[in-house]
Amino acid sequence: MNDVNILAIETSCDETSIAVVKNGKDVLSNIVSSQIDTHKQYGGVVPEIASRQHIEVIMQVLNDSLLEADVKLAEISAICVTQGPGLIGSLLVGVNVAKTLSYALNKPLISAHHIAGHIYASNIDADIKYPSLALVVSGGHTELVYIKDELNFEIIGTTQDDAVGEAYDKVARQLNLEYPGGPKVDKLAQLGEDTYNLPRAMIDSDDYNFSFSGMKSAVINLIHNANQRGEEIIPENLACSFQKAVVDILETKSEKAIKEFSIKQFILAGGVAGNSELRSRMINMANKLGIEILIPKMQYCTDNAAMMGAVGYYYYKNNLFENPLLTNAKSTVNLENIIS
Ligand code: KG4
Ligand code: ZN
Repeated sequence: MNDVNILAIETSCDETSIAVVKNGKDVLSNIVSSQIDTHKQYGGVVPEIASRQHIEVIMQVLNDSLLEADVKLAEISAICVTQGPGLIGSLLVGVNVAKTLSYALNKPLISAHHIAGHIYASNIDADIKYPSLALVVSGGHTELVYIKDELNFEIIGTTQDDAVGEAYDKVARQLNLEYPGGPKVDKLAQLGEDTYNLPRAMIDSDDYNFSFSGMKSAVINLIHNANQRGEEIIPENLACSFQKAVVDILETKSEKAIKEFSIKQFILAGGVAGNSELRSRMINMANKLGIEILIPKMQYCTDNAAMMGAVGYYYYKNNLFENPLLTNAKSTVNLENIIS
């Protein structure tokens, strides 16, 4: 097969990102325009503002990406866009740019799944072997995914309420840390000790599901009770106790799944995969169990288009193309029926 240059577009939340990826591995460019500075004054992503900002910057991001990759539109093999899941107004911007480029340039269009992208971020600097198991942890997702084969996924567990990243961001707000609070809680936790007793919901349940909303309530109650008693909260200790509780849950469930499923690798993916404690505990756990672990480079953990270009290559190989006149953005998409 000739070289496959995928132009990948990701606008599912608050990052406008366009990448050019050769043969699923070679990231020729990966431009990410983040809206964090805009949203942090509101304490979280405002969907309406996010979609407007995508519109404002996307053509510049496209130009920058092609320039950095030193690739002309004529040399692009296919356009790959995140179809969902995500914020519908944000997704629509990327999907419409992709549809337009595909139609105007007569290039195949790939509508890819965002979670599949997070997982295949690991395939950029390593090779995913099948079957594998992925823990996908981000602002919108907490999923344990069994990867039977190329693009063939089965979700074995998910959150019943909040995602891990969401819990981090909510707890960060209680500690007066700016959005996105995950990385700030992570830093603070490293300075503290585990002195607060926080619940570890569903840690012993028979399934692979998670629940994180109680964690936020527990932290709020703890701060509230301390205030009423006139006691001081030690923020770094609270951050440390919260982080320990979260990682305990994620590690316990992942270990249980690794032992039950016969797999070749364990993959840690999504924005929260950048968490220091989670990374080191998962690496230790995998080493203890003698299982290979893949974690993408930091820049491929949080939302970016390179991961969509990486997964888009496998859609391309499997001829999974869509009609640019008919395809649309979707706020929810099934991960389990990409390949039938
Ligand atoms: O994958 P991502 O960029 O977006 C979604 O698809 O949701 O993940 C963003 C999330 C945010 O909630 C952010 O606070 C969290 O990942 N995050 C972290 C860390 N870095 C990012 N959470 C904990 N520790 C970190 N170091
Ligand atoms: Zn994401």
